[in-house]
Order: sequence, then structure tokens, then C-alpha cells
Amino acid sequence: MAEPQPVIFPLQGRRVWIAGDRGMVGSALTRRLARERCQMLSVGRGEVDLRRQVDVERWIAANAPEVVFVAAATVGGILANDTRPAEFLYDNLMIAGNIVEAQKGAILAALSITDELFDAREAGEDLAGSMKRLSAEIRPWLPPAKRKD
Ligand SMILES: NC(=O)c1ccc[n+]([C@@H]2O[C@H](COP(=O)([O-])OP(=O)(O)OC[C@H]3O[C@@H](n4cnc5c(N)ncnc54)[C@H](OP(=O)(O)O)[C@@H]3O)[C@@H](O)[C@H]2O)c1
Repeated sequence: MAEPQPVIFPLQGRRVWIAGDRGMVGSALTRRLARERCQMLSVGRGEVDLRRQVDVERWIAANAPEVVFVAAATVGGILANDTRPAEFLYDNLMIAGNIVEAQKGAILAALSITDELFDAREAGEDLAGSMKRLSAEIRPWLPPAKRKD
């Protein structure tokens, strides 16, 4: 059986936004994240056109997502990509650029979450250190057969 993978970025309790959550990739992500006990945020294209920076900034400021998955894009088959390359390039650069730009505040929040993780690891190391010291202190009290001198 496969070993359980360590969780490097817990989503539990976080505000998570999947941009493009009604699309093929976004809806699959939404189904998967339902198991994570995070708070899912959603907005449709009718409310926010992700190519428009002002709309994106306003929505992000009002909803403060902490984690963003970008699954929004203008997509199409080979023919569409071949015949409308500038539209695909423009839409997808704007969508990704606007979200990254407006998300700076959330990136700072993510950095503070990372700090929390490092603090937790350091606290774990401190605890391990004090347990070792305690063990060294009580070792002389153990019967000789149990000592690991
Ligand atoms: N499908 C795959 O097998 C696959 C595999 C790997 C990677 N990807 C990548 O994943 C991304 C999504 O692909 P997909 O197949 O899931 O596409 P999709 O089914 O067409 O979904 C795209 C989503 O983006 C939203 N969207 C597009 N333009 C928008 C805009 N201007 N403002 C707001 N929302 C907008 C759409 O909203 P509406 O529903 O309102 O149109 C839809 O929800 C693409 O970058 C694609 O290259 C896809």
C-alpha cells in the first residue's frame, strides 16, 4: 500500500478560490477539494471578467482568498488555437497576470502561513531538545541494565 504523503500546505480552514471552477479542470479540482474542509470561494464570469484588472482587484479585496488555483483560461482545440492565437495569448496572459498582481496581499498571507509552519517545526525541535536534556538528567537514576551509557 502507498505511504501517506506528508501534507506540506494544509488547506483546512483556509479561504480557497478556484478561478474557473465551472470549467473542466476547475470542477474536478472543486470535487477533490471538497475533502479538505476548506472554505471554497466562487465567482462566475458574469460577475467578474478575469481579463479586467479592476474587477479582479475589487473581487479579491472583498473576498480575501488565501489560496488560489488558476483554472480559468480561454481554451480551444488545435483549429481554434491556430486561427485565433492572439486572442488566446492575450486572454490567458491577462487572466494569469491580473490574478497574480491582485493576489499580492494573499501571497503575503501565504508567506505568513509558511512562517507559521517554520515556527511549528522550530517548536518541535525545541521540544525534542528539552526531551533529550530531560532524558540525560534522569538516566543516572535508571538501573544500570537500562542505562545506555
Ligand atoms: N482539459 C484538460 O485536459 C487540461 C489539462 C491540463 C491543463 N489544462 C489547462 O487548464 C486550464 C483550464 O482548462 P479547461 O479544460 O478546464 O477549460 P474550460 O473547461 O473551458 O474552463 C475554463 C474556465 O475558465 C473560465 N473563464 C474563461 N475565461 C474567463 C474570463 N475572462 N473570466 C472569468 N472566467 C473565465 C470559464 O468560465 P465560463 O464557464 O463562464 O466560460 C471556465 O469556467 C487551461 O489553462 C488548460 O490549458 C487543461
